[in-house]
Amino acid sequence: MSNGLAAADLTQARPRSAEASAAVGDRRRAGLDRLWARGRAFLGADLAIMGGAMTWVSERNLVAAISNAGGFGVIASGSMSPSLLDQEITATKALTARPFGVNLITMHPQLLELIDACVEHRVGHVVLAGGIPTGAAMQRIRAGGARVVCFAPALVLAKKLVRMGADAIVIEGSEAGGHIGPVSTAVLAQEVLPHLTEVPVFVAGGIGRGEAILSYLEMGASGVQLGTRFVCAHESIAHPLFKRAFIRASARDAVASVQLDARFPVIPVRALANPATDRFREVQRQVIDRFNGGELSQKDAQLEIEHFWAGALRRAVIDGDVEAGSLMAGQSVGLVSREQSTAEILAELVGQALAAIAGRDQRFTSALSGSAEGQGAGG
Ligand SMILES: Cc1cc2nc3c(=O)[nH]c(=O)nc-3n(C[C@H](O)[C@H](O)[C@H](O)COP(=O)(O)O)c2cc1C
Repeated sequence: MSNGLAAADLTQARPRSAEASAAVGDRRRAGLDRLWARGRAFLGADLAIMGGAMTWVSERNLVAAISNAGGFGVIASGSMSPSLLDQEITATKALTARPFGVNLITMHPQLLELIDACVEHRVGHVVLAGGIPTGAAMQRIRAGGARVVCFAPALVLAKKLVRMGADAIVIEGSEAGGHIGPVSTAVLAQEVLPHLTEVPVFVAGGIGRGEAILSYLEMGASGVQLGTRFVCAHESIAHPLFKRAFIRASARDAVASVQLDARFPVIPVRALANPATDRFREVQRQVIDRFNGGELSQKDAQLEIEHFWAGALRRAVIDGDVEAGSLMAGQSVGLVSREQSTAEILAELVGQALAAIAGRDQRFTSALSGSAEGQGAGG
């Protein structure tokens, strides 16, 4: 499909007039729209770009802004009760008439009631995160008329989820912010995209520019999901200090949490390194010493370790405590350089994808004419 675009534009490689330029631009946009047509149709959005749900960040304002700008916003329900989720969906509907989704955490004790709240509101897409969902949860969503989107950390699980009834799959690599798996986005994409064609697949993790979006679409993705890139949107309610930490950070500052002892597993989370990161290591060391000294049972020691981060994301995102809170961020944080409107972020991503198509057209033309000219052209 990709080279179909380049070939179609070959005759227009050197447009002479503004009209001809506009025609070339229109064709590139049409080409991009063909590449992500399946994702757009699935989401019911102009752009097959999902705003990945981020607990505390992805609430009514950011979700509506993403959907209003042509993307697909997703509410992060986190630990919300069904009645709070009900209010959040109502408030989001008041801000946008466009489709948006809801992300539910599978281990939430009231998962079924949360699903019912989505169904009552006729939310079109429910994203199930935080573990492999039960068939019963998936069926309840589908029976209520919504589509089920699941995260798959490997091809074999993606296939299993599709057999269980997933209508779309998100593959998220370890570059992502928040809870992560062990495999990079680039490798997961190669493992899954050529072999999973039954349902649309969205790629997430480490995507910060349109060139990367285009390359995953060309590999067979139907769309993408970005989180980190939207944190510093004007419409994001994240605390100014949380946003400032993102703007200052580079990719290498977004590190995965460290586990000190295999007997005490730590769920890997990618976040900006801060004093809490160091403190977490100290706490693990102390707890392990106390366990080794017979002062704590294994279960209590594990609970103490798990308890460390309780409420920490809220402390950072809402209260602005960037020292003691959790600054969940993906490696694409290095590509976040300022606050921007959501519409501007999405327009920038699309512009970069189109420029990348243009760069390829030029390289293709040069290669055909045997010249080295344009070899370096890009977005
Ligand atoms: C602050 C933060 C909170 C997140 N919370 C959730 C969440 O509640 N549920 C979820 O499925 N994913 C969560 N994620 C992951 C995002 O939905 C998204 O998949 C991820 O950010 C994509 O990778 P990127 O950050 O490299 O763009 C979170 C990510 C961040 C940065």
